Amino acid sequence: MSRLFVKKPLAQLFSEASDSEKGLKRSLTATSLVALGIGAIIGAGLFSLTGLAAANNAGPAVTLSFVIGAIGCAFAGLCYAEFASMIPIAGSAYTYSYATMGEFLAWIIGWDLVLEYALGAATVSISWSQYLVKFLHHYNIHLPAQLTASPFETVTMLDGSTVTGIMNLPAVLIIIALSLLLIRGTRESALLNGLLVALKVVVVLVFIAVGWGHVNPANYDPYIPANTGEFGHFGISGLFRGAAVVFFAFIGFDAVSTAAQEAKNPKRDMPIGILGSLAICTILYVLFAHVMTGLANYTEFKDSAAPVAIAIAKTPYAWLQQAIILAILAGYTSVILVMLLGQSRVFYSMSLDGLLPKTFSQVHKKYRTPYKANILFMVFTSLFGAFVPVHIVGEMVSIGTLFAFVLVCVGVIVMRKTDPDVPRAFKVPLVPVVPIIGIIICLALMASLPLDTWLRLAAWMGLGLVIYFAYSKNHSKLGNKL
Ligand code: ALA
Repeated sequence: MSRLFVKKPLAQLFSEASDSEKGLKRSLTATSLVALGIGAIIGAGLFSLTGLAAANNAGPAVTLSFVIGAIGCAFAGLCYAEFASMIPIAGSAYTYSYATMGEFLAWIIGWDLVLEYALGAATVSISWSQYLVKFLHHYNIHLPAQLTASPFETVTMLDGSTVTGIMNLPAVLIIIALSLLLIRGTRESALLNGLLVALKVVVVLVFIAVGWGHVNPANYDPYIPANTGEFGHFGISGLFRGAAVVFFAFIGFDAVSTAAQEAKNPKRDMPIGILGSLAICTILYVLFAHVMTGLANYTEFKDSAAPVAIAIAKTPYAWLQQAIILAILAGYTSVILVMLLGQSRVFYSMSLDGLLPKTFSQVHKKYRTPYKANILFMVFTSLFGAFVPVHIVGEMVSIGTLFAFVLVCVGVIVMRKTDPDVPRAFKVPLVPVVPIIGIIICLALMASLPLDTWLRLAAWMGLGLVIYFAYSKNHSKLGNKL
């Protein structure tokens, strides 16, 4: 068999997992897995992009964009659930591909996941910085505008003048702080994460409850504004472009699958964790978007990275604004934390397999965390947070994640053929129809992203190919056994 397509035998995966299990405690219940998922999911997509998607693409019908996005994710989510219940092992999509489609595709997906996790953290850090600026303004603290934007952006000042950014310093600082926390220990990080997730869910519920009674029905008219003549700008095409934008809000449900080795009853609970967190977030998102576009007219959200502040100002509870922004900052922090954690785990697995240098799986003597991987990604992610505009990183995250979803859907079909007898606690219904629909929806969402984003994806994957053929292929432990 060609080395490129060497597959990691399931038996080997299971035995590696039971070795590493010695250090890991199976402590997560279905409820805690759902909480973990929600922790990774609710963030900048909801609190920043909802307003932009309403203002630029879908109007009040951004609620329907959320439904379309959720349907797309549900098909991929079902495929993740089958894999996670069958191969309940860390490493997520990278590990599944190594078992089903061979080393080369596993490499591709592992390399691609950097776009989802590392750049996901960078994107959210930029939104974090925008809400921080808003929060501090209230206390008359004004950070120098040059230090809160990338060199490709201009900031409009209160007097109407504009300033070009130098770097986004708050984004860098939050990434550094959380990377250091991750190095310090997973338990400490998980503890903080639990607290942040609770705060974030409370703020979503409070916003819905507080806003519901103050909605102005006139803001829903027209519910689907007429298309402007340009694809994606309102009308039906706007709903779909809006779905591609808010797709970002769903990213992270797959992070549940990285915790498979710590689940008490992974075969039953992984599907519950993945699909449950997706379902709960969808309901919350639709209600949240409904209230947001009911409080303020969708046109008011144009160019605003902090639409929640605009909406809440329309209620008699404007005094809640600071508390809500603080909780949003906390929520973003948990997303960045989980993304950085997921990223270091994927590179850790790839390094153990020999596809990346050993450095990435070196564990700190005292803290027992892959600290070198954390440091590398601290630098890498900070550079993107500091110097790249939010829409560029955000779109790279979306295209990278959708690409990973496509490969996972393909993997389910392949695995049904190659390993039909391995027990699956959860089975995707109607294979291959469901995975194929998943693939089509993900490709359609990818197609609605701009050409530049495709070129960046191609460049990133090209770099990955160079590294694979120059290094990984020759150092692969499995390949060298052949
Ligand atoms: N879904 C995550 C967010 O919206 C990435 O921040």
